[in-house]
Amino acid sequence: MAMDEVLASAYEVLHDSVLTHDGIPVGTAAALDEGAAAANYHECFVRDFVPSAFVFLMDGKTEIVRNFLELVVELCGQQGVMAGHRRAPGLMPASFRVRPDGDGVSADFGDLAIGRVAPVDSAMWWMLLLRIYVLTTGDVEFARRPQCQEAMRAALELYLQESFETSPAMLVPDGSFMIDRRMEVYGHPLEIQSLFFGMLQTARELLLPAVGGEELLANVKRRLQTLRSYVRMYYWLDQYRLNEIHRFRSEELGADAVNLLNIYPESIPEWIDGWLPEDAGYFVGNLGPGRMDFRFFAFGNLLAILFGLATEEQSQQIMALYEQRWDDLVGATPVIITYPAVRGEHWAHVTGSDPKNAPWSYHNGGHWPCLLWAFAGAAIRTGRHDLARRAVERSAQKLARDRWPEYYDGRHGSLVGRRANLRQTWSAAALIVAHRLLEDPESLPVFESMNF
Ligand code: GLC
Repeated sequence: MAMDEVLASAYEVLHDSVLTHDGIPVGTAAALDEGAAAANYHECFVRDFVPSAFVFLMDGKTEIVRNFLELVVELCGQQGVMAGHRRAPGLMPASFRVRPDGDGVSADFGDLAIGRVAPVDSAMWWMLLLRIYVLTTGDVEFARRPQCQEAMRAALELYLQESFETSPAMLVPDGSFMIDRRMEVYGHPLEIQSLFFGMLQTARELLLPAVGGEELLANVKRRLQTLRSYVRMYYWLDQYRLNEIHRFRSEELGADAVNLLNIYPESIPEWIDGWLPEDAGYFVGNLGPGRMDFRFFAFGNLLAILFGLATEEQSQQIMALYEQRWDDLVGATPVIITYPAVRGEHWAHVTGSDPKNAPWSYHNGGHWPCLLWAFAGAAIRTGRHDLARRAVERSAQKLARDRWPEYYDGRHGSLVGRRANLRQTWSAAALIVAHRLLEDPESLPVFESMNF
């Protein structure tokens, strides 16, 4: 199959997935598979729409993206009471459904989703998409409209609210982002920190002082700085840092403590020694009191590169890790979502015995083509076009032939996921974006520096 045919097949999925409301396009369904694993795959998920939106923006079809941004704000008004308590304004829906027969649109704020998970990442993605929409179209007036400004303000007030954190990282419940099942991703997962950083940066650029107030903006700036330093220092793991942690003293009290979070060296998993190469590194998956989750989470690391949360050197080292551990982290179908998989007793404990998250499947070490855009973007941003090209060229035909699966199983990701949907929209959209970024890195301003 030639690349043209692969792209045509991806575009077919994307076009067939477009959802319309009152005759105007407002989003894309998550999957077209008739026998989809769950009924809400026919809804438009906020996070899933992002790569679709990128394709539309690159193709000059900006209207659907604008309609989507508007509709999501409108839907925020639908928030109700869940388990007896009123939800905070500022939370955005996980997904929405266009009801048949012109009966309107209804949103799910996690109150209907499997496991009743809170979509913390939705408002973050919404703001990031707003930023890219403005940069692509130049339509800054749209972001200045009261509805958009008010939505940003409400989200920031919720996301910046003090609760029980002792660090600048954001505290969230399990399954509150792309990994929306129990996977021991409660606490301070990396992906949320990367998105939070991107969200704050967007606010700094787009929130009008009159709307947010000087105090909110000052708070945004402060948190940006503290979050950035904290992630760069404490989430980072390379050989040097690993050696430090290995020889950490523990039980330190007071202001001079070096082992700030009281991480016990005994918690370093066996697989790390020998796996982490000399001149490579990554941000660990999660960090909290007495707890460092050493697993590698792809999306959080890639977004940290894209948003400038990682330093230039760290970005290079993450890509060096990809290069040297290609079979583990990329394999047959880019890219693995978490490495390594949790198994046995540990699996039962971490996932709550979730059969969908069996070792090397789904969120537990499955391979997700939808991450291809972020991989290609991060590789290109660090000058590693070779890695982006390798990932796209080696997988494109397989993805099209397999009819755009949602995820792949197996250590190397060569098996179509046991319960994966076919014709999954973000798998197809991500391939189109990755391919386009390689052809023309200027086609999407995801690289427009977020450094400040
Ligand atoms: C699954 C994924 C989630 C995605 C949704 C729709 O629940 O875990 O990240 O948004 O499917 O594709």
